[in-house]
Amino acid sequence: MGVSRRQAMKVIAAGGAGAALTSLTGRDEVEASTTEEQAATIIPPARAFSGQHAPKPLPFDPTKLKGISEKLIKSHWENNYGGAVKALNAVEQRLASMLTEKDLPPYLYGDVKREELVRTGSVVLHEYYFGNLGGDGKASGKVVDLIKQWFGSYEQWEAEFKKTANALGGGSGWTILSYNLHTGEVHNYWAWDHMHNAPMGYPLLVLDMYEHAYHMDYGAAAAKYVDAFMQNVNWDEVNRRVEEMRIRR
Ligand SMILES: [Fe+2]
Repeated sequence: MGVSRRQAMKVIAAGGAGAALTSLTGRDEVEASTTEEQAATIIPPARAFSGQHAPKPLPFDPTKLKGISEKLIKSHWENNYGGAVKALNAVEQRLASMLTEKDLPPYLYGDVKREELVRTGSVVLHEYYFGNLGGDGKASGKVVDLIKQWFGSYEQWEAEFKKTANALGGGSGWTILSYNLHTGEVHNYWAWDHMHNAPMGYPLLVLDMYEHAYHMDYGAAAAKYVDAFMQNVNWDEVNRRVEEMRIRR
């Protein structure tokens, strides 16, 4: 007994949030005798709309950072990052339920697709950001070789990284030391928001330049926050990403 596309869509329509998108593989209409209940057991749940993301715990002791307070880090992790995780889950489930709305205008679906991109960017970049904090700020290892190869010296790279970050002061965005998997180049990319990133840029070091990342400790003095961030970079994690990138390349 096969399952027709029409039947599968009926099952999806009945499923609401988290309902299955079919994994049907292009088979044409076949026997129509299978019941919807049977079909529901055959079609696997669509993982893309499961909305089951969970926040990753901080990988360091928030009381131990130099120049960045525990209060700020906890608020940032809980409210901004945690909020993004919750929102991403809600967005995924909303997309699933919207798929069942036959007369839904495409532009309304587009609004939520935009939110999917915003929230995904926020979750991923925050996880990279918190992941590269908690160190002693002393750069070493293979990433330094890469930096020297593309910036001449560590000092020149750091100056450009800070200049890029400070260009985002008072607003929002991210500064990302990236290895571009397409061009094979290493750059400090400027990102205006969670959706703004160079295509194929593999993040090695991520700096959050949204005001929520520093305003509680530094007010509008973004440059002081950038200096504090540099003192807390976990370069072991950055080097782990360099290795991970090489494996994936
Ligand atoms: Fe943030």
